[in-house]
Amino acid sequence: MSVDAPENPFLDTLITRQRAEPCTVVIFGATGDLTHRKLIPALYNLAASSELPPQSKVIGFARRDKSDEDFRTELEAANRKHSRQGHDDALWGSFAQGIHYHRSEFTDTEGYRGLAKLLDDFDTQRGSPANRLFYLATAPEYFHVVLEQLAAVGLNIAPEGKWARVVCEKPFGKDLKSAQKLNTTVSQVFAERDTYRIDHYLGKETAQNLMVLRFANEIFEPLWNSRYIDNVQITCAENLGMEGGRGAYYDTAGALRDMVQNHLFQLLSLVAMEPPTDLSADSVRDEKVKVIRSLRPLATIEEVAQNVIRAQYTAGFVDGQSRVGYRKEDRVNPQSLTESYVALRLRIDTWRWQGVPFYMRVGKQLPRKATEISIHFKTPPQNLFRTLEVNEGGNVLVIRIQPDEGISLRMLSKQPGVLLRMQPVKMDFHYRTSFGKSSPEAYERLLLDAMAGDATLFARNDEVESAWRYIDAIEHAWHDDPKIAPPMHEYPAGSWGPRAADEMLGVDGRVWRRI
Ligand code: BG6
Repeated sequence: MSVDAPENPFLDTLITRQRAEPCTVVIFGATGDLTHRKLIPALYNLAASSELPPQSKVIGFARRDKSDEDFRTELEAANRKHSRQGHDDALWGSFAQGIHYHRSEFTDTEGYRGLAKLLDDFDTQRGSPANRLFYLATAPEYFHVVLEQLAAVGLNIAPEGKWARVVCEKPFGKDLKSAQKLNTTVSQVFAERDTYRIDHYLGKETAQNLMVLRFANEIFEPLWNSRYIDNVQITCAENLGMEGGRGAYYDTAGALRDMVQNHLFQLLSLVAMEPPTDLSADSVRDEKVKVIRSLRPLATIEEVAQNVIRAQYTAGFVDGQSRVGYRKEDRVNPQSLTESYVALRLRIDTWRWQGVPFYMRVGKQLPRKATEISIHFKTPPQNLFRTLEVNEGGNVLVIRIQPDEGISLRMLSKQPGVLLRMQPVKMDFHYRTSFGKSSPEAYERLLLDAMAGDATLFARNDEVESAWRYIDAIEHAWHDDPKIAPPMHEYPAGSWGPRAADEMLGVDGRVWRRI
């Protein structure tokens, strides 16, 4: 497919968003994995494409003792490994001049006074005060204390004419109660308009394209409802397990909390929401939160058992490599009752979606990494070709979030020849070939948006709480009383999940899309 110049005003609005403003980014938990793998490479790539506002600076705030030079050296090694557009020594040299390190305990008010002084010194050198972006990349148990300490030394108040914002990494709470508590702490320190709750799935190019696909084209929206759509499937498969010591965190979370409450619900909202009145952050988020609020609650343990399947992987092979079972993974409890896979059948109680099931599945150690949304259309009211044998019928629109981002539409076509034979064919659009360049990393887009004051692609307080409300009901059914809890199923590493997940769709006369 070729690419035409945008003529649509909706597209123009998306392109001309606010501009990012110069700021100092303070990363709490700067010695962690996220800073090395994602944040610094994202900032470096923004610099490489001249999108990072000039005079921006980064301060790493963490507990380990190290100099600016030590910090820059370790970040350089990480950037060589993880930068999307490669690593250029000269560019890194000038970019790294703006990186500094500040050692402090997260609980030590003196450390925050030191940070305030450092920021003031930079302002003096620059000759004017800078905006401030505080990035919480610590373990979640430190979020409260960092916020409280920022307020204690007044760093939440921006210098005259400037802004101070906070970006909260996930997980934002581990249930409704803790999310509400965190929202309360945040709101005492920063206004909601200055609070940016990251969900990196919203920064993925194809997730953003969902709104363009639906609302900038005339042909899809009239069909986007229960009259024409039979079911919607969202799959997020990963071919990794608990590498790099992740088991310690993951075993306290599980697939439902780790992926469904945030990433999958965000994708679901984008697919199912009503058109927003405009593209402002609140108009878009108003519509998204309505979807989550309209999810039909799972009121009893039986309803959870019928609509949610949980499972753990057992030993197996992924990509020809042998993998241990979940309970044998490093830093995972050998008796763990944490799910590494979950499949759900959801109902959205709105006019648009009455009778349309939304199936979602997410899991570790599946055969390959793939995230996609598939829209399965109903079959025509009268099947003129019923005497012809076709194994797979029905139009399917597939939105591939990753890898190989793109969109395809499957339809039935006549096979060439004198006989009337049908075969499914695909119209396929690939980002890479159509646009000839790789998409920016989610964190590039999201950091830039936070610097520009655009919260559209960040979760609002009510979105997060509504999602937890739904998830909590499932967690309670699973964990409150083990004697009556729905079973924990198993699947061999390298398979597409437990048989029970297939059976859940089988009861409805449907199957998961083969990926
Ligand atoms: C994170 C989860 O939020 O997303 C991880 O904590 C998961 O468990 C990751 O692996 C997946 O992100 P992506 O962008 O690789 O699909």
